Amino acid sequence: SNPSLLILPGDGIGPEVMAEVRRVIDWYGDKRGLQFDVSEDLVGGAAYDKHGVPLSDETMEKAQEVDAVLLGAVGGPKYDDLDFSVKPERGLLRLRKEMDLYSNLRPAQCFDALADFSSLKRDVVAGLDIVIVRELTSGIYFGEPRGIITEGNERVGINTQRYTESEIERVARSAFELAKRRGNKVCSMEKANVMESGILWREVVQKIHDDEYPDVELSHMYADAGAMQLCRWPKQFDVIVTDNLFGDLLSDAAAMLTGSLGMLPSASLGAPMANGRPKALYEPVHGSAPDIAGQGKANPIACILSFAMALRYSFDLGDEAKRLEDAVEKVLADGVRTADLLGEEGVQPVTTSQMGDAILKALDDS
Ligand code: NAI
Ligand code: MG
Repeated sequence: SNPSLLILPGDGIGPEVMAEVRRVIDWYGDKRGLQFDVSEDLVGGAAYDKHGVPLSDETMEKAQEVDAVLLGAVGGPKYDDLDFSVKPERGLLRLRKEMDLYSNLRPAQCFDALADFSSLKRDVVAGLDIVIVRELTSGIYFGEPRGIITEGNERVGINTQRYTESEIERVARSAFELAKRRGNKVCSMEKANVMESGILWREVVQKIHDDEYPDVELSHMYADAGAMQLCRWPKQFDVIVTDNLFGDLLSDAAAMLTGSLGMLPSASLGAPMANGRPKALYEPVHGSAPDIAGQGKANPIACILSFAMALRYSFDLGDEAKRLEDAVEKVLADGVRTADLLGEEGVQPVTTSQMGDAILKALDDS
């Protein structure tokens, strides 16, 4: 049977960028004979408007059954005053939680044509291609005890960093598996110098390496030094694996090495399914961008590159993923720019669908 894909466009620019992904998916069907069983459903505010909840049970069930979920973005001012329990973001959180997506892949990739966009020197970022693997379901954002308590005559805010061996093992495996398909190099970041969880993290990652992935090159770095190295010479890295908190910071910083939010894809992976592939949710890093929604200004590349990640990691179609990334690279090299990518004077921006046209044309020529 065909590989299955659940598409959840969501709110704001979500449906606009997803429309361009649909055209890319159709292109693969028509021109490459790659048929996907695609179903589409509601998430976020769009689901709330129809069902009164940001993700229905039926949609949740579907998400558990398909090979991959592709999400646009959720949220918007219209929903800001809703009760916390039905906020659009809760739809996304429910997907992540129930699918148990513990491994968050955030590539930082710098297309040559956009290297001057970076706040760093062209030399430092041009051609950069690294992935940060962030543990997503545990650590200090979830650990107990937590809360604000009163001690004597003042209040104390408490969070607990806590990692079990099995939580570290599974995200380490995910990083090593990823490295095997890329540059075969993993750098693990923690603060084993000052944190118990860091000591355990380093030990467990090293053991998974020695027992299961001895051929992958492994190094360890303190996360603060890692942040520095990431800005100094990011090309020294291939895959970086780190905990939830450090990963949150490092992936945002790494993302900005490369320019616009409209360019950044992501994947969240869980345990392997019966077919050996991980449960997976792919989504652009950006949100629903209410300031430009409905105006045809959104850059669809982040969402299109998220689909490229799905081709590679869920459908084992690395060559086809590369074809799509090359098409994006070609279009950028030709100077095609949505408004968020404008820098040079006198360049006229294209619309969302014109960017889609250009990418399809580049695919035709590939
Ligand atoms: P945002 O990412 O939606 O927008 C930040 C800025 O980047 C805006 O100026 C926007 O126009 C621009 N931008 C974002 N994506 C773009 C694209 N593809 N092309 C061109 N420009 C783009 O973040 P913001 O404004 O903080 O949040 C807006 C809404 O999105 C909120 O309701 C927020 O909760 C939600 N959100 C949802 C996320 C998700 O679905 N995963 C992630 C982040 C925010
Ligand atoms: Mg963040």
